[in-house]
Formats: sequence, structure tokens, C-alpha cells
Amino acid sequence: MCGITARVGRGDAVDELLTGLENLEYRGYDSAGVAVRNGHGLSVHKREGKIDRLKDRIERSPPSGSMGIGHTRWSTHGPPTDENAHPHTDCTEEIAVVHNGIIENHEALKADLRERGHRFESDTDTEVIPHLLEEHVDRGLALDIAFRRMATQLQGSYAIAAMTADGDAVYATRQGSPLVLGIDEDCHYLASDVPAFLEFTDRVVYLEDGDVVSITEDGYEIVDADGRPLDREVRTVDWVAEDAEKGRYDHYMRKEISEQPTALAQTVEGRIDDTDDSGRQIDSGNDSDGNVADGSGDINAGSNGANSEKNNPEGVSLEACPPGTFTDVSAIQFVACGTSYHAALYGQQLLARRGVAAQTFRAGEYAMAPAPVDDDTLVIGVTQSGETADTLESLRRAAERGARTLALTNVVGSTAARECDDAMFIRAGPEIGVAATKTFSSQVATLALLAERIAGDVADAGGEDDQLLAELSTLPDAVQRVLDETRAMEVVDRYRGMDSYFFIGRGVAHPVACEGALKFKEITYEHAEGFAAGQLKHGPLALVTPNTPVFAVFTGRHTEKTLSNVREVQARGAPVIAVVSETNHEVIDTADATLTIPDAHPDIAAVLANVQLQLVAYHVADHLDRPIDKPRNLAKSVTVE
Ligand code: F6R
Repeated sequence: MCGITARVGRGDAVDELLTGLENLEYRGYDSAGVAVRNGHGLSVHKREGKIDRLKDRIERSPPSGSMGIGHTRWSTHGPPTDENAHPHTDCTEEIAVVHNGIIENHEALKADLRERGHRFESDTDTEVIPHLLEEHVDRGLALDIAFRRMATQLQGSYAIAAMTADGDAVYATRQGSPLVLGIDEDCHYLASDVPAFLEFTDRVVYLEDGDVVSITEDGYEIVDADGRPLDREVRTVDWVAEDAEKGRYDHYMRKEISEQPTALAQTVEGRIDDTDDSGRQIDSGNDSDGNVADGSGDINAGSNGANSEKNNPEGVSLEACPPGTFTDVSAIQFVACGTSYHAALYGQQLLARRGVAAQTFRAGEYAMAPAPVDDDTLVIGVTQSGETADTLESLRRAAERGARTLALTNVVGSTAARECDDAMFIRAGPEIGVAATKTFSSQVATLALLAERIAGDVADAGGEDDQLLAELSTLPDAVQRVLDETRAMEVVDRYRGMDSYFFIGRGVAHPVACEGALKFKEITYEHAEGFAAGQLKHGPLALVTPNTPVFAVFTGRHTEKTLSNVREVQARGAPVIAVVSETNHEVIDTADATLTIPDAHPDIAAVLANVQLQLVAYHVADHLDRPIDKPRNLAKSVTVE
């Protein structure tokens, strides 16, 4: 949700800024811009549309300079136009600012500034920032003090970077929006996310809310709001740049679908102990000598974890929590958005089957009317990015009221991981496509492990499900089979161009049906809805016609009941595509078409079914020539409420 970047160092900044913006484009792609200090002043280039349009403009009159800031926008205030694109400048055009987030009091600030003679060129909330800075600088304040003073005037969530025509530093701060510092020998970077500068350096500092950082060619300084120096840990990120590249694939989404076997192998690696004679166990985090991991080594993030690093952030991983960690938990609430919400619903059902009551809330609603909690309530935020504003706000509201919080996330340095009491990492590796794919699978696998641990602690559930743990170990191979043998393209050829697409399922197949529909509508722009199969006859059945294919997801449980619903829609003429085990001949014979999956434990079969639905959505979108990695109006990591 908007990406910001900054670079100060030897050599020219423009190419590195543009690389940074391209790597952040998943955060928003309505418009883009850069400002570079060129020796005579600031050279500002900005353009509505994707970054390629900005590059075209820049090629015609290339700016040059060793210091600059950049922005890729997802519009909140004002439509995507050249004027509303960042960077924004003050009246003198000597101060340039990029911003991610929302300045909630911008109307009041703008009115005050207008009274004092400032003129605004855009509809954005951001434009007040350079004008506020201008006022402080005109009063004789040095830029560092002016910047800190300006930050105290802002309400809302933001990550901001600012530079002037004559200074040699970029100043930045954050409040509720991510900001990372990158450190190289003779160059320093700032960005909303690590991939922006991963090609140039892997040494990073995750900045905290309220930190004010300045970067120059020679170094960096982090201070608090009063200018007092702060010491922040420098971490080494163990992503490699290729992880965040498209490779031989046409789209990141296709690459990330294909990466699911690897991602899942990383998710479960070291977490299922199958060396014990008595059967498989969830690894308690003890090393071979029986020492409990202390949370200060690789265990937290896993050596292959997404955005994981050699040094761990605060927060204790589940791997480092021995059995008994959840003994005091009496209630569980999940908070999440979008695809992560579907994963959370899946987790809720896994817990319910193990005798543990849990509730799942859409984070945007939870923050409006938080459910009752006490200090025995565990609130689990499921969030791939760890930066989704609604989810963070829900977790904060829960923590304020005394709940224990746990982040289940892909990003080790993320706000959720740092703010929650505990963090469990899904280790899926970087996900760049806006449509979440491999992170859903890794979330579910992680939730399956977590459900086993929690059930063991709180429900006296009579031991772990050895078969499930064994099948989690072989899930990567099963997903690979789905990828190798899928007939999704044939199904797409047969059923595309219809009025609407429905997805139904029961039990854990219900969240997967909802996820299948979300993926489908998100990247194809065709109408799709997911339903609990039993819910159809309570209303949605009125929409079913021969022109509305229904994807029915089967996991090995509730087969007869779902089959009844299949027959109901077939009786209204709708073709049914069953996503079902290859050995379930009753369903295969009933359906009009099938996408088969290997036989699997019913708790995880829906993960395999989901891979088929991801491929269906992908092939339809590809056929329609949609911008699959950057669907219109969307952005990955939604950092505003
Ligand atoms: C859909 C999608 C979104 C995200 C949602 C939550 O494909 O990606 O629905 O799942 O914005 O994001 P995270 O998981 O980062 O909190």
C-alpha cells in the first residue's frame, strides 16, 4: 500500500531508486515518482500509471544525482493523476516528500497552511508535509529539528521520507507504517520493504514507530522524537534477490503457485520430529541435546524463512515453546483479513475438531467492536505481511484489554511479529504477486501444527494426530503431484465466459471455497462467490443457472451432504466441477468435470484442492489477459484501515 524508497551514496541514485520502486510495485501501482538532488536543485519526475510510464518519461530527460527519494502509489486521497503522484514539494520546490499511509488531520493542517499563504497543487493528504517543513525551515530551524517538529503535528499512520535541494541527508520517520533502513559500505537506503534494496545490501534495521532516521553517503543516525540517539539492531536478511524475481515465469503468481512444495517444506522443516520411536511429534524446539532453544538463534525464523534473518527479532517462536506453553489459554480468537481470514477460518475448524473452541473475526470489524477478552484469551493475528492495518489494530485492541497475542506471519521483522507477545513464522519465502497463494498454504500448514500444540495443551485431546503430522511432512510431494497433473487449463477452456462462478464446500472446504472465489474475482474481474455448501438453499440458489458453473470442494468428510448440494445445483442446470480425491469415484461419476487431488488426510486435503482453484483462477485471468500480478484497485499489504 504505497511504497517509499530513498537512496544516498556514491554513484547515481536514479537507477537504484527505480529498481527499488519496481520491487515495491506490489504495494501500489496507480502512479510513481522520484525526486533527485541534481546539484542545482531538486529534479522531480512523476507520472500517473505504472512505473514503466515513469521510466519512459525519465528516459527523455534523465535526472542525475547521488541522493533521491521515490514512491509508488495506491491512491487514498485523490485519484491517480500526475498531480497527485508523489513526491510532493513545498511552495519553493526545495523540499520533496514521499509518504505511505494517511494523515488523518490533513484537512485542518491544510486550512491553517492556506491561511498562511500556502498553495496546494494536489488532492492528497501528503502535500501538507512539505509545507509544514517549509514553515519550520523558514523560521530558521535546521532540517533535522524541522523534520522532528513536523512529525509531532501529524495524526494518522505514516512512513515519510524527505529531502531538500541543499542538504546531504534524507530524513525519514514512521508511525504505524513499515520502514526499513538498508546499510551498505558507501550507500544507505530506506524503503517500505526489504526487496526494494535487496540487490544492493542485505544488512537492515527495522525501524520502530517514532524513530527518526537520517541517511547520508557516510552513515546513518537514528534518534527519538526529542533528538536523543537510539541504538537499533542491525540484522542480516537471508533472502536472496532471486527469491523476489520472476525467473522463467510470466507472472509472480504462477511462480509462487509453483513454489508451494518448497514453501511447505520450509514451513514444516524441523517442526515435526519423526525420529522418535513412539511416533511423530511437533518439535518442541529442543536441540539434540535436549536444550530448549532460547529464541536467539535461527529457530525463530527458520533458515529459509521469508525475510528471516540470522538474528531474531523480539518475540518467542512456537518452536521455542515447549508443550505446556498454552496451558493457561481458555479462549482463542483469530483476527485476519482476506486470504489470511480464510486461513484463520481453516485454523478455527482444525481447533474445533480437537475440542478447542475458537472464533474468527474479520479484523476490520473486530477493531470496531472487539470481542470480550481476558488474560487467558489468546488472540492470533494471521497476516502474511505482518503489516495489515486492520489486523494490527485488532491485535493492539486485544493486547490493551489484557489478551495474549500471537502473530502468525511470513515476515520476521514485521510490525505484527514485533508487537505481539509471540510470533510463529510461516516461512513461505517472499510473495510478490498481489494475490496470495503460497502463503495461504503455508499459513494452513502452520495452523495445523499450532492446532496440534494448542490441543495438546488445553484440550487434553489425547495425543497428537500421527497421521496428520506424517502427511504434513509429505504435503509438499502431494502439492507437486497436483501441479504436475492438473487439468485446470482444460476445465477453464470448457467453462470460461459464463455469467458467474460459485464455489462451495463444507468443513475446511468452506474457507477454501471462499478462498477459491476470492482468488477468482480478484485476478479475473469475473463475478465469483464462495458459500458454505449447506447455505446455498437459504438464498444463493436463486442465482444458480446453466450459466453459473459451481466448483464443489471435497476433502473426504461430509461427502454425502456436499453431494446432495451438488445434485441441487445440477437440477437447476448448473455444471459442477468437483475438486476431489482421485479415488472418490462416486463424486467423480456425479460431477460434470473434475479436478482431482491425491488422497490426503481430511484436515489438509483442502490445501491440495486450493492449489487446483489457484490454477483455475490463474488460467482464466491469463486467458483474459488481466494484469495478474497487479490487479486493478488492489495492493499487497494494506496499511490503512
Ligand atoms: C488476496 C490477498 C488479500 C490479503 C489481505 C491480508 O489474495 O492477498 O486478501 O490476504 O489483504 O493481507 P495480510 O495477510 O498481509 O494481512
